[in-house]
Amino acid sequence: MNTKGIIFDLDGVIVFTDKFHYLAWKAVSDELGIYFDEKINNRLRGVSRMDSLEIILEGGKREYSENEKIEIAEKKNEIYKGYLSKMTPSDVSDEVRKTLTELKKRGYLLAIGSSSKNTKYILERVALSDFFDAVSDGTNIKKSKPDPEVFLKAAEFIKLSPCECAVIEDAFAGIDAAKSGGMTAVAIGDAASYEKADIVLGTFSDLLKHF
Ligand code: BG6
Ligand code: MG
Repeated sequence: MNTKGIIFDLDGVIVFTDKFHYLAWKAVSDELGIYFDEKINNRLRGVSRMDSLEIILEGGKREYSENEKIEIAEKKNEIYKGYLSKMTPSDVSDEVRKTLTELKKRGYLLAIGSSSKNTKYILERVALSDFFDAVSDGTNIKKSKPDPEVFLKAAEFIKLSPCECAVIEDAFAGIDAAKSGGMTAVAIGDAASYEKADIVLGTFSDLLKHF
């Protein structure tokens, strides 16, 4: 392992916006009369907004038109952004902030690799906009995780080859993306039980034991 750069997923790794995604999708699916729970929510980790909606609509009793799907996704995003607007720098734990700062001190290039189109807004809310060396997100990709595009772009932005990068992920789809991109896959949270991960973290600061 010759790691020079570390690419972090955002939702569920740096910030716990995964719970806001859940609450927003829950509100929308309750209104549609579609069953939705935490287990289904775990399948949405790392998956784009429209692909997430397709997974939710699997539980629906009818087909939805493209226009209806766009409307539902927009509604979900409005509810989600309502939660984001209340975020403050205190939504990034001391543990995460201190670990990121220490990794930077150790000379690693640090990037974000997130499927979310709200990435820049979230980074702004938590005062991390200027912290990372690069941000690759839902606005610069065509295919979301498990496709490696978002991480390959992040590596390109920090001018490293994939094998010089480690990816920190809470999503099974994100671990798959890191592996198929040729990167070291580091799992935390929900992804910690995934056997494809190269390294498993019990807690975020465990990063300092490996890098
Ligand atoms: C990922 C989340 O980071 O971003 C997914 O894990 C989410 O749950 C995806 O669907 C897209 O997010 P957004 O903010 O563009 O709707
Ligand atoms: Mg995530």
